[in-house]
Amino acid sequence: MTLSLSERAGAIKPSPTLGIAAKARALKAQGIDVISLSVGEPDFNTPELICRAAVSAIEQGLTKYTPSAGLPELRKSVADHLHGRYGVMATPDRVVLSCGAKHSIYNTCQVLLNPGDEVILFAPYWATYADQIRLAGAIPVPVTTKGSQGFIPDIEEVKGALTPRTRAIFVNSPSNPTGAVFGRALMKQIAELALDRGIWLVSDEIYSELVYEGQHVSLAEFGEDVLMQTVLVDGFSKTYSMTGWRLGYAFAPTYVAQAMSNLQDQVTSNPTSFVQAGGIEALRLDPATVEGMRNEFRARRDLALDILKTVPGIETPVPGGAFYLFPDVSKYLCGAISDDNALAELLLEKARVAVVPGSAFEGPGHLRLSYALGQEQLREALTRIKSTLESLPRL
Ligand SMILES: Cc1ncc(COP(=O)(O)O)c(C=O)c1O
Repeated sequence: MTLSLSERAGAIKPSPTLGIAAKARALKAQGIDVISLSVGEPDFNTPELICRAAVSAIEQGLTKYTPSAGLPELRKSVADHLHGRYGVMATPDRVVLSCGAKHSIYNTCQVLLNPGDEVILFAPYWATYADQIRLAGAIPVPVTTKGSQGFIPDIEEVKGALTPRTRAIFVNSPSNPTGAVFGRALMKQIAELALDRGIWLVSDEIYSELVYEGQHVSLAEFGEDVLMQTVLVDGFSKTYSMTGWRLGYAFAPTYVAQAMSNLQDQVTSNPTSFVQAGGIEALRLDPATVEGMRNEFRARRDLALDILKTVPGIETPVPGGAFYLFPDVSKYLCGAISDDNALAELLLEKARVAVVPGSAFEGPGHLRLSYALGQEQLREALTRIKSTLESLPRL
């Protein structure tokens, strides 16, 4: 007899990005030359100084439990980092280290949301948000943004989506999957709206160091009143190429941080002890290391955009940050190719390139292409996509 799972388990969808990556890996294992543009993971090695710090921590016996919210030294390093970067009154008791930004967002949803609460988020969005909001019993309310406007939301539409049940607005700048970067004026408008309506802001700033045009604007920059209604999430995965280490953090009002720490006490306890030593080292790193990675990403973005420009019928807004392109491929959705899922399947079969359909991010009619891989492979992948698309009928 097969017994049923909880309703909660039934509500979780498998991660579409990880699903495509698994398909691509399976083809590769059969010896097929597949290039993956599907995963959001920098290809660089973790900087050596960070690795050495973790190894040395193990050798020195930092292998036991730490406080659930993280080592006091790392909480302080993060607080100092946020103070240095945004000038905020950051104290260590407002910082909670977790096993990745994804975990910090989970904690945030669990401590802020009640069943039936509505949460506004900007579509296309990282699919995890909607699942985690639902896991907390709350309801995701997407506000759609358009490629023709660079995937920047219209504040009037945000206001229009508010109801008495709105509990939070999720912001993700730079964005996965669109690479859109929200400017100061919009961030300020969102902050003012939250203050005016007494709602939470959850700001996922994991790509904050990967901005290629202008400057990253953090929701932490709009004063203490805004911060008292904000959970800022960031981490080490993207900036320091530490995806597998699983280390991220939330910066929140003290009572929220305490609630997250209590939750971690009962669920995961601390993020891995010696990984935290790597985190301390990461925050001490010469900024030139991150700048080198940022410059390489910018060069890849430009290379990819140059090739995409030559594909007929495709529109690709220039992304200001992160490492994704989100081209509109709707002109190719005709005949046997009914939607972006079918197009992504076809590209995997024919071009041997793995991409993620935009529908996975509530952005149908698009594809997400990650440029977190070397220039040679990137050029080859885009050339294959171009020649496959050119062989297809279009509207
Ligand atoms: C927008 C966004 N937030 C958070 C994460 C997860 O980061 P971490 O590895 O720190 O859990 C990702 C990873 O793809 C992401 O794209």
